[in-house]
Amino acid sequence: MNGAVFLIFGATGDLAKRKLFPAFYSLYREGKLNEHFAVIGLARRSRTNEQFREDLRDSINEFARHHVQDDEDWAKFAEHFEYLPLDINNVDGFRQLNTLTQQLDVKFQTNGNRLFYLALAPELFGNVSYNLREGGLLETTGWHRLVIEKPFGYDLESAGKLNQQLRQVFEEKDIYRIDHYLGKEMVQNIEVVRFANAFFEPLWNNKYIANIQITLGETVGVEDRGGYYDHSGALRDMAQNHMLQMLAMMAMEPPSRLHPEDIRDEKVKVLRSLRPFESAEEVTKNVVRGQYTAGQLNGKDMPAYRSEESVNPESNTETYLAARVFVDNFRWAGVPFYIRTGKRLPVKSTEVVVEFKNVPDNVYLANKHDLQPNLLVFRVNPMEGIYLQMNAKKPGAEGVIIPIAMDFCQSCQVGLNTPEAYERLIFDAMRGDSTYFTRWDEVAHAWQFVDAIAQAWKENSGDLAHYPAGSWGPDAANELLAADGFKWWPVNGQHEGEVIWASQS
Ligand code: BG6
Repeated sequence: MNGAVFLIFGATGDLAKRKLFPAFYSLYREGKLNEHFAVIGLARRSRTNEQFREDLRDSINEFARHHVQDDEDWAKFAEHFEYLPLDINNVDGFRQLNTLTQQLDVKFQTNGNRLFYLALAPELFGNVSYNLREGGLLETTGWHRLVIEKPFGYDLESAGKLNQQLRQVFEEKDIYRIDHYLGKEMVQNIEVVRFANAFFEPLWNNKYIANIQITLGETVGVEDRGGYYDHSGALRDMAQNHMLQMLAMMAMEPPSRLHPEDIRDEKVKVLRSLRPFESAEEVTKNVVRGQYTAGQLNGKDMPAYRSEESVNPESNTETYLAARVFVDNFRWAGVPFYIRTGKRLPVKSTEVVVEFKNVPDNVYLANKHDLQPNLLVFRVNPMEGIYLQMNAKKPGAEGVIIPIAMDFCQSCQVGLNTPEAYERLIFDAMRGDSTYFTRWDEVAHAWQFVDAIAQAWKENSGDLAHYPAGSWGPDAANELLAADGFKWWPVNGQHEGEVIWASQS
């Protein structure tokens, strides 16, 4: 690793506090960040280095996987951090920033490498990029990379404009667009499980797979992000990015090489093959949108979405979405992908379920034994693991077939101390590996797909169904699968198989 200066814009914000600074500390403690690094925290408010480092220590102690050991150790780490108040509209401030960056480059021998991390509202991306260039920050002997957070635009048009602004300053290869779901251990594991196992890849197609279900349930409401969320909704906040990215990982062809561009090329092909919704009727038939009303979750009363802070009391924004999606290519012709996500659902859980087709009628006729389909489940979050459900003879009982399960609980074995998504992503950006960042064409195809849904909803706001907080969303989401002869499989370890054999720790 050849070192870098990290410039964090939005350093006093929530993301920096909860995710970025703790990630730096874990990387440092685990030896992935050697002494050749510096971090400059940037935000409008004035702050001394000492105050900044104190906040840093608090955020690490509260949110990092590793706690600060002792003062000596801390001082060694903290001296890599500096704070500079910056008005992002003032190019002189950027010149001053350039001087500080050069000094830190010399002090920590970072080879002129610079990583600009914009933990800011996207409206500011264009200005900051422009001023980075005008302030001389791109004139360096090493590499420079730009890391940006979602949302990347509001629709295809605004995303295109945003992209144009960035591309006036940065090359595509130097832009790292974060989708933190791609940094999750089990999302990265999808391709390994698929492509490194003889008993999955041959079956990974429409001959053997009945459907694929992706659930991303959350118990939280909109917390203090009502203003942003009410403008965005579940479609833009979750489906355009996290859900379609997981779908692409499940559906993509094996890449010819494990090179970032080859993998991203395969994902783009999937996104390009999504069957577009051609009319509002098609959207009504295939997409369910919901909004939570008051209800109870874990024994607590929860307010309705419309009563949340900063939310329009007459809002028609969706907090829930379920959809039937098809990937129109040779491998997936006829296989529905069902996706669903929602706020204030009964559990926090992200799981991907592959439901296999039933065996042909044979001596174990389904009608005699009520055979359950085989399931392969990727448990992404918060429990991490892989679950496989199959049929077997009930021990001791004559002629009784039951579902059994192999349950590999990764989080139970490795512990919950596996690296956080942001640790992986910062580490990857630092070493120039863009595999788990989204390329512009992926973002554009995803927007194109969801724009058709948003447009239909705009024309037909009557589609919005309500569900009580603490429930699994509108009934229409169950009807969506029932119409195809399927059902949503329970998530969060509540599958039906009796765990007869489980991996041992
Ligand atoms: C973010 C969304 O991208 O992902 C949030 O903006 C959501 O609304 C969050 O809560 C979920 O992430 P995770 O990692 O907690 O499942």
